[in-house]
Amino acid sequence: MSQQKKTFYITTPIYYPSGNMHIGHTYTTVAADTMTRFKKLTGYDAYFLTGTDEHGQKIELKAAEAGVTPKEYVDKIVANTKELWKLMNIEYDDFIRTTDERHEKIVQKIFRQFYEQGDIYKASYEGQYCTPCESFWTASQLVEKDGVKVCPDCGRPTELVTEESYFFRMSKYQDWLIEYIESHPDFIQPASRANEMINNFLKPGLQDLCVSRTSFKWGVPVDFDPKHVVYVWIDALSNYITAMGYGTDHDELMQKYWPANVHLVGKEIVRFHTIYWPIMLHALGLPLPKQVFAHGWLLFGNDKMSKSKGNVQYPQPIVERYGCDALRYYLLREMPFGADGNYTNEAFLTRMNADLANDLGNLVSRTVAMIEKYFDGVIPAWTDAVDEALDTPLREHCAALPRLVEEQMDKLQYSQALAEIWKVIGECNKYIDLTQPWVLGKDPEKKDRLANVMNMLAECVRYAAVLIGPFMPATPERIYQQLGIADDSLKTWESIQEFGKLPVGAKVQKGDALFPRIDVKKEVAALTGEDEKAEKKEDKKQQKQEKKQEKQEKKAEKKVEIPEGCISFGDFEKVKLVVAKVCACEKVAKSDKLLKFDLDIGAEHRTVLSGIAKFHTPEELLGKNLILLANLAPRKIMGIESQGMLLSSVVEHEDGSETLRVLMADPIMPAGAIIG
Ligand code: MSP
Repeated sequence: MSQQKKTFYITTPIYYPSGNMHIGHTYTTVAADTMTRFKKLTGYDAYFLTGTDEHGQKIELKAAEAGVTPKEYVDKIVANTKELWKLMNIEYDDFIRTTDERHEKIVQKIFRQFYEQGDIYKASYEGQYCTPCESFWTASQLVEKDGVKVCPDCGRPTELVTEESYFFRMSKYQDWLIEYIESHPDFIQPASRANEMINNFLKPGLQDLCVSRTSFKWGVPVDFDPKHVVYVWIDALSNYITAMGYGTDHDELMQKYWPANVHLVGKEIVRFHTIYWPIMLHALGLPLPKQVFAHGWLLFGNDKMSKSKGNVQYPQPIVERYGCDALRYYLLREMPFGADGNYTNEAFLTRMNADLANDLGNLVSRTVAMIEKYFDGVIPAWTDAVDEALDTPLREHCAALPRLVEEQMDKLQYSQALAEIWKVIGECNKYIDLTQPWVLGKDPEKKDRLANVMNMLAECVRYAAVLIGPFMPATPERIYQQLGIADDSLKTWESIQEFGKLPVGAKVQKGDALFPRIDVKKEVAALTGEDEKAEKKEDKKQQKQEKKQEKQEKKAEKKVEIPEGCISFGDFEKVKLVVAKVCACEKVAKSDKLLKFDLDIGAEHRTVLSGIAKFHTPEELLGKNLILLANLAPRKIMGIESQGMLLSSVVEHEDGSETLRVLMADPIMPAGAIIG
């Protein structure tokens, strides 16, 4: 009877399709893909799930800004995401979208079950809400920045929100979870994250979790109370089981692969995966995933990449110039999995030159060139008689390499696993220097010795090719071609369990350099240019669209007679009104009328002066959402440039006095939201 393969189920977080995926999202996905390929190579039946987390207010707002429905908005981003994963050579088994019917139906079922078994209750909630992060915070969790209490994750201001919501009774499971985490030391990795969860969240007392919202519509409706939509985490986390057919008649994948072996997550979402998710699973009577591994962030200039900071790096320009394997290698090699790391074009190109062009590329090209030169391109056989002491360490090291790599991969230490492979590559290059084949080649007596050196090098290169496959899937085949290896059985894990399986007699074939050496300075300039070009192209497209729209509007206006005293729709559209959040406000010295504001309008901050000091104190306006006329030409007042005008309503009384109140927007609207 054939033995059943061991299963391995790995997931990435499902990404928010609020914008196109960047190199940070690519990092997690490449890591999951590499692990899947490694498990498959080593004989596992591995399953890899990724997808998109498509509901929520942020997407609803983004779609409204773009003038399309939320579904239309996410469809486009999902298509781009799938294209990107293809470009990165990502082979997922399934791509789940939270808008899939298969997902939504089961989320409703799970929500109902929680409600019926008393895990979920309805109550009124008051809390500080961060719209960009879609997170509620207690007052004590907020942090202070420039005198304002802000979201501890993104540093943006939050707002006080009161809403009727359903809540999950997390507190009920707190002691069970502490016990579980403490008795399963591998469950949360790196271990420091487990301490963080226990000390910062569990021991101080777990808050019940808000799991439904009524203030927006773009979500899975609660089927027994349709005013509510399921809010973020029950919807998002369930993807890991809805994709496996949980709760349906077709739950074969669930039977086969659950519990997942590892959920890969970024460090900011560990809390959701190691507190809320285990509790949800426990409440459903399901076993917990074996591990949640928190990786670090890929920083850009020491800052987290984000669109609003304008420091986002996309993979496409890099892949187009250097191929996806170079980028995959860099992502997995540069930083230990679990720690933060910096992405710079310079560091990427320097590593590409050193590790890929020099170490690996040179080893392959030198080996092939020497076999061509000294043996007419035919890989020579090994002769024990001329085995030298020099050969043993390399042979033993290379023979041990599969085990060394597997040990690191079992701990998700991609960077260390690659370091092990590169140690052997380095040793091979040293072996060439020590054995000096160009000297052996001059002496016909040394032909057998030279044959051994070539045989050894070719076999080491074959080992390296098999082992780098999961990390750089397109490269091994290029190496096999140069080594003349056509037989698939020589490209497997089994074939590197015993050193010396190389096909003697195979004909090597010189090919293009695997990774050509590059001029780092020139390439940095070229890459920066490409990024700028891409940005300019985007800008041009937008300008073109705006012009087209303007033309159409003008045409439409011409046809309509505009009554005296009225303005046209086109005129109105020129007025740019936005929600402006007050980050700081103070009286202007030597003026009893003026208040000076620092206003957050989403993409930027504005300094604005307003003559309302007699009617409002700075304290009462701090943190409020005001309405700013944002495209009023700036002007200087008392030496300070005022960049816009705050709207207010005013009445004049019979005695000549005035009452003025500044206009405010709904507190749930994010800074920068368009008014109109
Ligand atoms: N939708 C949630 C996850 C729900 S999972 C049930 C989410 N989405 S996200 O798009 O904001 O982030 C998804 C993942 O991408 C996170 O693990 C996050 O850490 C990761 N990354 C986003 N930017 C990153 C970097 N710059 N570097 C590394 N990972 C980054 O959170």
